[in-house]
Amino acid sequence: MARILVTGGSGMIGNEVVKQLLRAGHKVHVLDLYPIKIEGITHFKGSILEKESIMHAIDSCEYVVHFAALLGVANSTRNPLECLDVNILGTRNVLECCVANNIKRIIFSSSSEVYGDALRVPIKEEEVFQPKSEYGASKVVGEEYIKAFSKKFNLDYVILRFFGVYGPLQVNNFVVPLFVHNVLNDIPLQVYGDGKQIRAFTHVEDVAAATVKAIFSEQASKQVFNIGNAASETNILELAKLVLKVSGKGEEPVLVPFENSDRTKEREIFKRVPDTSKAKDILGFEAKVGLEEGIRRMIEYRKALL
Ligand SMILES: NC(=O)c1ccc[n+]([C@@H]2O[C@H](COP(=O)([O-])OP(=O)(O)OC[C@H]3O[C@@H](n4cnc5c(N)ncnc54)[C@H](O)[C@@H]3O)[C@@H](O)[C@H]2O)c1
Repeated sequence: MARILVTGGSGMIGNEVVKQLLRAGHKVHVLDLYPIKIEGITHFKGSILEKESIMHAIDSCEYVVHFAALLGVANSTRNPLECLDVNILGTRNVLECCVANNIKRIIFSSSSEVYGDALRVPIKEEEVFQPKSEYGASKVVGEEYIKAFSKKFNLDYVILRFFGVYGPLQVNNFVVPLFVHNVLNDIPLQVYGDGKQIRAFTHVEDVAAATVKAIFSEQASKQVFNIGNAASETNILELAKLVLKVSGKGEEPVLVPFENSDRTKEREIFKRVPDTSKAKDILGFEAKVGLEEGIRRMIEYRKALL
């Protein structure tokens, strides 16, 4: 049994990680701006921008899963300074507190956004960084800070680059929950550009399972892993059609030019699929929840709330 602090534990991925850690018998502390509706954990309300809050929450913990962040390309583009503050200075604060508390290992949630439009797809961990957004750039800096802290203070870490995570608790400004929300409310599904942007969507349960493995795997020490579901590769137009099919609706998605959306062609990533062979070899990670099944579960969950 270990004691683990999850920053951002009230969020979509954090919730699922907390549940899986509790099921495995661990003690969990959560530091978040918002509460969490899970029994059996210790919740600390506070910000990673305040070191006292982190010091309070990290007390007696052996591991830290650092999820707290300002998320989403559109959101971080609207709030660039807040994104840089939370994702860079906040991460730096968390690292300082890890060192001060002799934390055994920190798990950092990085993102496929660090690759931008990768030169080689499926993307391997060695691919160069070409972030196109403040969010992507903030994750690059977070990763580099962790490596620097590790060298200087011998802090152990694992960096996980998540690809297109989705799950029932995700807010509706991400594409999968947005399509599900719209389909359940009879709003036509809008697809930006020609809808040929390729993605590999990964169910939150798979991402959480990879995170738990990363905490305890000896071989994972100071490694970087892509975490995603390459088998669920699809494009956004096909995704919209799949949501319509699973929900039993007959309408066709509507194509909307980038100019009429909150996205721009320049910032769009056109093909993003992970190579997860390293995570398979070292962590024993394999995504289990297929896209159709994940969408079905999200629709059922959200229907029950209507
Ligand atoms: N969702 C994805 O597709 C995806 C992809 C790649 C990486 N990630 C990363 O995974 C992590 C978790 O993402 P998520 O999808 O669960 O996001 P989320 O927005 O659901 O959760 C983030 C949590 O962080 C908390 N938070 C934000 N600012 C904070 C602060 N200053 N102090 C304390 N808590 C704060 C929020 O309240 C929220 O509960 C993030 O670091 C994100 O960048 C997510």
